[in-house]
Amino acid sequence: MSVAVLLLAAGSGQRFGGDIPKQYVQVAGQAILLHTLRSLEQEPRIAMVQPVIAAGDAIFANIMAGKNFSFQILDAVEGGVERSISMQRGLAALPANVDMVAVHDAARPMTSQAVLKDVLDVAFEYGAAIPAIAVHDTIKRVDGCGKVLETPHRACLRAVQTPQVARLDWFQAALAKESDRLHLHTDDASVLEAAGFPVYVSQGDMNNRKITTQHDLQWMQDFLEAKV
Ligand code: C5P
Repeated sequence: MSVAVLLLAAGSGQRFGGDIPKQYVQVAGQAILLHTLRSLEQEPRIAMVQPVIAAGDAIFANIMAGKNFSFQILDAVEGGVERSISMQRGLAALPANVDMVAVHDAARPMTSQAVLKDVLDVAFEYGAAIPAIAVHDTIKRVDGCGKVLETPHRACLRAVQTPQVARLDWFQAALAKESDRLHLHTDDASVLEAAGFPVYVSQGDMNNRKITTQHDLQWMQDFLEAKV
């Protein structure tokens, strides 16, 4: 079974602000994207990584120059305006011998070995898996005016993370089936769910956090300092 990671790095990072895309911000001496790639090296089943970057990105190649990894790095492809379009373009560039695809945020740098192992184990067993954690706050569903419509039972809710893993042929079939609705999907598994494929949760981790705001960046700095 050959596992490929689609490393999504084509977002505009508007919520983060700053002069350069968040995945290229330096933390503890290296870009966040390199922290992400180093964390992926903890899982020996990952054979290759397909980077997906924004059109005109001049930073990625500089950051990667002269670096070696335990997996093969394929030539980067250009992403699109929606995450699902970036995912679709990355999938299209993968070699045909790939069996399992893990779609991962470039801006999620602290993924543990246990999270990687569990999500692949569950995906190998059921065909698709996503790391998830229980939610501690009660979650409300509201309408456009802020009126509460529903309070889903908290025990049934999960906050999900990446890598989101599925068989390559499932992702391909789901993207084809959902091609008119790709803009509605905010994560990769929801494309599979909408197309009728079963997706299972694996063990997520509070530290498998996406760097979205300056507050997250400060958290990452503190987390790395506490580790040394
Ligand atoms: O914007 P957000 O933080 O949700 O993005 C998560 C990841 O998806 C980031 O690593 C970002 O670069 C990537 N992305 C992408 N193409 C898009 C939007 C987001 O590759 N159109």
